[in-house]
Amino acid sequence: MKPLPDGRGSVAAGIDPRLVPKRTLYTGALMPAIGLGTFGSDHAGAGQVAAAVKDAALLGYRHFDCASIYGNEDRIGAALREVMEQGTPREELWVTSKLWNDKHAEADVIPSCRKSLADLQLEYLDAYLVHWPFPNFHPPHCDVSSRSPDARPYIHENFMQTWRQMENLVDLGLVRHIGTSNVTIAKLKLILRDARIAPAVNEMELHPHFQQPELFEFVRAHGIAPIGYSPIGSPARPERDRTAEDTVDIEDPVIVSIARRLGVHAAVVCVKWAVGRGQTPIPFSTKRRNYLANLQGVVSAPLTPEDMRAIAGIDKTCRLIKGQVFLWKAGQSWEDLWDVDGVIKA
Ligand SMILES: NC(=O)c1ccc[n+]([C@@H]2O[C@H](COP(=O)([O-])OP(=O)(O)OC[C@H]3O[C@@H](n4cnc5c(N)ncnc54)[C@H](OP(=O)(O)O)[C@@H]3O)[C@@H](O)[C@H]2O)c1
Repeated sequence: MKPLPDGRGSVAAGIDPRLVPKRTLYTGALMPAIGLGTFGSDHAGAGQVAAAVKDAALLGYRHFDCASIYGNEDRIGAALREVMEQGTPREELWVTSKLWNDKHAEADVIPSCRKSLADLQLEYLDAYLVHWPFPNFHPPHCDVSSRSPDARPYIHENFMQTWRQMENLVDLGLVRHIGTSNVTIAKLKLILRDARIAPAVNEMELHPHFQQPELFEFVRAHGIAPIGYSPIGSPARPERDRTAEDTVDIEDPVIVSIARRLGVHAAVVCVKWAVGRGQTPIPFSTKRRNYLANLQGVVSAPLTPEDMRAIAGIDKTCRLIKGQVFLWKAGQSWEDLWDVDGVIKA
């Protein structure tokens, strides 16, 4: 590990951010191939997440995955301000934020982005994503059986009205890249057909038990960089996001055996696999030991081709973030959100 000055004269044990692999986006911009997730869910408060952002930056993280719905952008903004005051230039940071579902209306997109920028104390975002392709609002912490009476299916014309405003954000210089999240191949085909500015990134659930090979290959073939959320299999997600069928990546014998051989936590194997495969994982942690281990995992020796092949073989098509709360009519199953047969459900 290379010691890095923390800007106050002392030295912290961290990773030189120049050693962290980068993804080249279609604009030529470089995005660090690992980011820190910032969704504290029910268990990590805003202050705790913001402290992790500041410390992780000190240790060499440069990429932070934020969203207005996470309810902590103001605290993260204060942390990023300190990071920059201590000497990290803005250009070295990669900050993503996301438009929440209740802000899809044409008049809401630009103000919502400005609010995130104000909270994050930034003049521009590196990436701004439409968090979900549905304008369906649900209150934070609501039960998975909760349904909004205003909920609608994906309506492409409506999505494109939102997307036009996303494109305007690029024209205004408020955002360097725009992107999608939680979309499918069927939806992306339409978006790519009609977009003036194509998505540069697509944020999607990706971990060894949910590899989404078709969508993963599709986005890469269209010049879109895949960002993988819940890369460790979200072991601390709340009860309401669990079903009896869910499997546990970090208990998989293949992952555990590689972790034992390397002397690392199984989580680190998931992160190394993700970076080696070509996606950009954004693991969440508020524990220094863990977020440092994840960063070390991507600058140390990659997994062997045999390890990569073994992990490719343990996909269980186990989607963890099913999105039930976004369903729009009674009697539906969560698969209806994900166009499993290639058809967008009405
Ligand atoms: N676009 C979307 O719709 C969407 C959806 C979900 C998530 N996300 C983003 O993706 C990020 C990550 O997803 P996630 O939080 O669901 O799940 P995750 O990153 O797969 O898992 C996070 C959990 O793993 C543990 N962990 C992390 N590194 C570890 C290590 N080295 N050793 C042991 N345990 C470790 C953390 O515990 P400790 O805190 O105890 O270390 C935390 O409980 C979110 O924070 C958010 O930014 C986006």
